[in-house]
Amino acid sequence: MSKERNPVTSRRDFIKTTGTIAATSALAGVILPHVHAAESGTLQIALIGAGGRGTGAAGNALSTIKKGPVTLSAMVDVFEDRLELSYQTIKKEFGDLVDVPKDKRFIGFDGYKHAMDSLKRGDIVILTTPLAFRWVHFKYAIEKGLNVFMEKPVTADGPTSRRMLELAKDASAKGLKVGVGLMSRHARHLQDLHKRVQDGAIGDVLLMRGYRMHGPVASAFSTRWPGKPSELLWQISRFHSFIWASGGCYSDFYIHHIDHLCWMKNAWPVKAHGLGGRHYRTSPDGEPWVDQNFDSYAVEYTFEDGAKFYMDGRCNSGALPMYFTHVHGTKGMAIAARHGDYSGPSSIHNGQVPTRSNMSWQSKVERGENDPYVNEWNDLMDAIRNDKPYNEVPFGVQASVVCSMGRMAAHTGQEVTYDEMLNHPIEYALGIDKWTMDSPPPVTHDKDGKYPVPMPGFKNDREF
Ligand SMILES: NC(=O)c1ccc[n+]([C@@H]2O[C@H](COP(=O)([O-])OP(=O)(O)OC[C@H]3O[C@@H](n4cnc5c(N)ncnc54)[C@H](O)[C@@H]3O)[C@@H](O)[C@H]2O)c1
Repeated sequence: MSKERNPVTSRRDFIKTTGTIAATSALAGVILPHVHAAESGTLQIALIGAGGRGTGAAGNALSTIKKGPVTLSAMVDVFEDRLELSYQTIKKEFGDLVDVPKDKRFIGFDGYKHAMDSLKRGDIVILTTPLAFRWVHFKYAIEKGLNVFMEKPVTADGPTSRRMLELAKDASAKGLKVGVGLMSRHARHLQDLHKRVQDGAIGDVLLMRGYRMHGPVASAFSTRWPGKPSELLWQISRFHSFIWASGGCYSDFYIHHIDHLCWMKNAWPVKAHGLGGRHYRTSPDGEPWVDQNFDSYAVEYTFEDGAKFYMDGRCNSGALPMYFTHVHGTKGMAIAARHGDYSGPSSIHNGQVPTRSNMSWQSKVERGENDPYVNEWNDLMDAIRNDKPYNEVPFGVQASVVCSMGRMAAHTGQEVTYDEMLNHPIEYALGIDKWTMDSPPPVTHDKDGKYPVPMPGFKNDREF
């Protein structure tokens, strides 16, 4: 790790987890003019990044109609076909709740401004582009007095993490409500488990394990740029392949486990070291992979009290699939996510091996709120309509920093502390707020079409 960094922010400044769902305002108690949208009736929503998750999030937002009037009124993407597909999909399901005439469908990097300009203070903007654009869009939303839902992860490097924490303070100071798509925290069974773990049901937490191991998915592995669209737009469309765009597959795929396990512990780890590598260098049809990811990661996180958290990730077909999280304490253990990123039921067991016979508690589905993607919107809307403090950005950034710290540790082959990661000087998408469709991408290919990759032990103070 580089020694030349500006220790502007210490981990202790930010690691004050509350164990509550929404981190409260950093300026709690300060009296400032608030934006309270519920007064104005219908909440209009703009969607920035009309891809898979954006389409889903817009649908989740519109499904809160039972609690108050909402309409989708503007949409933005950098690809017209993606926007149109998203529009048709949402329109088909939600009909009149979708009112996005052609002149409210914006294409391009500046589309977010037009869309947000078309809203009124207290409306809502959904930020579901790849994470690199998050701070740019969040900053403008705050200027416009808009409530925000943004997808995870929220940062991939030190400078943007510090910037987002500052922006979070600005949002809270304006009374804006901000949700982050770490939906595990809105899964009712994980909330129930969290309470039990805090109440001592498994004793002191000593060890946690997260496994996300499956075949290649999404755009984590890429063969060479085909020559169109532009190299920048192509990288955006394959954002899991590029660390500047997504934090790579480590940040994008593992953040749910990292976030909800640290939540169970009510702390963020102080340091990490990690292993990883790229075993397979070509696609099944023999084309070289050109992206920046490892295909396997094993990261050991350490907490201040010495407790450990092991995060194993793998994208290999044919290898043993494992996709769940476990929490071990001095008096027993818990299954948090039984499968996938968050799915239940969660359970608590006497002893360290989970069996039916030693199970002392299992979460129930009777609360009737089984979809955390809907719950996170109901929780955000409740805060907006009833003017309750609500800002998930601080823990969204902290979870993102813990991802980056593990990824950086594996990529450099060095131990990386939380403070080093948060204060790291390298920004991966410099000047992104000024990009146009013709801008060059932050990483360019070599003569073989390949992008710079991590080389642990050789590139020790930078990731690639
Ligand atoms: N919480 C979850 O479970 C979950 C699930 C999936 C994705 N996500 C997150 O949602 C985000 C989007 O993922 P996705 O799977 O929907 O990807 P996607 O590629 O399907 O969608 C992203 C969209 O954003 C558009 N876009 C990119 N840059 C833009 C810009 N500057 N302005 C406007 N539009 C832009 C892209 O063209 C694309 O249509 C990622 O951060 C991802 O990690 C979260």
